[in-house]
Amino acid sequence: MPHCSLRRTALAWATVAALLPLTAAAQAPAKLKVGLMLPYSGTYAALGTAIENGVRLYVAEQGGKLGGREIEYFKVDDESDPAKATDNVNKLVKRDQVDVLIGTVHSGVVAAMAKAAKDTGTMLIVPNAGAGVVTGPMCAPHIFRSSFSNWQPAYAMGEVAAKKGHKTVVTITHKYAAGDESVGGFKEAFEKGGGKVVKELSLPFPNVEFQALLTEIAAAKPDAVYTFFAGAGAVKFVKDYAGAGLKKNIPLYGPGFLTDGTLEAQGADADGLLTTLHYGDSLDTPRDKAFRLAYAKAYKLQPDVYAVQGYDAAQILGIGLVATRGDITKKAEFAAAVEKATIDSPRGAFKLSKAHNPVQDIYLRQVIGKENKVIGVASKALADPARGCKV
Ligand code: BEZ
Repeated sequence: MPHCSLRRTALAWATVAALLPLTAAAQAPAKLKVGLMLPYSGTYAALGTAIENGVRLYVAEQGGKLGGREIEYFKVDDESDPAKATDNVNKLVKRDQVDVLIGTVHSGVVAAMAKAAKDTGTMLIVPNAGAGVVTGPMCAPHIFRSSFSNWQPAYAMGEVAAKKGHKTVVTITHKYAAGDESVGGFKEAFEKGGGKVVKELSLPFPNVEFQALLTEIAAAKPDAVYTFFAGAGAVKFVKDYAGAGLKKNIPLYGPGFLTDGTLEAQGADADGLLTTLHYGDSLDTPRDKAFRLAYAKAYKLQPDVYAVQGYDAAQILGIGLVATRGDITKKAEFAAAVEKATIDSPRGAFKLSKAHNPVQDIYLRQVIGKENKVIGVASKALADPARGCKV
């Protein structure tokens, strides 16, 4: 073989060898970029962390891949601040170019996420924020919620309070969409059942100076109080309510956010409280027991409702990605698969409504021995009315 032909052959082999790793890399699908927009600071910080833990646990259980695609996380601390929400979601959508958004906790922040999802076509899975707008007027084929609507546990508690024979209730909440909608749901059921909400008290989020409002409650002497607080706000409110001497005279009710993930900090002041929620600490099903064991092993912590919602957000993502063989741009196929799926949740299996909100049992729970014990089902397979959703 002439010298220059030998050189050409060697060169050709070198080129093939150099290309090989590239070819192999080109065959592996690109990582799926998941944008986590959650509160990692402030009143709802613990809720954001629990949601992320739940997401990561489910993905880890699938070997780190969903629909054949490895997951890469991008994180933004939204601080539960609606004023920063648009900038924060743009960091994920425009700067990081994520394929899917998972977030958030606060109803005033999620509205900006839903708007960004609609404007850009980015897939959105909401792992907590119960704002009616998400599965109401802004509902869309590529927006899903793995948690609840603010109306759901509130409506169930309104029925419970009316059945107990209470006639007058004072409500108290942080003044923003979640609190307003929670009070609205409670009032709808309670007044349908013959009761009357006689006073609606509120304070700006995240203010926790409750004393003046507690004095007003004492003066109004209602049969009961209904409240929406969560995270650090719930810890402080439950302690202050007991500290003001109200707990022994005026029953305190609320959606389960009042006592979920908060019991260690609330201590005896939470004992006996009745709440309604789509999860509890003692469901005692094989599915929930396996989840709780895996969560405790991974994080050295007991899970709460927020962890479950994160886990189920990842399940929804997994169902859509398996059906589209990892191609998240196939939005119609993704949605069709999720719509017909039964989500195998630790809370109990559920399906999504047409508006993509869970249709789920709302449990009646009581705080007993540092646990939210499930003592009954307050409302079976409760669906949010999805007012304003046109799909
Ligand atoms: C909300 O803002 O929607 C919310 C926050 C914490 C717990 C439950 C709901």
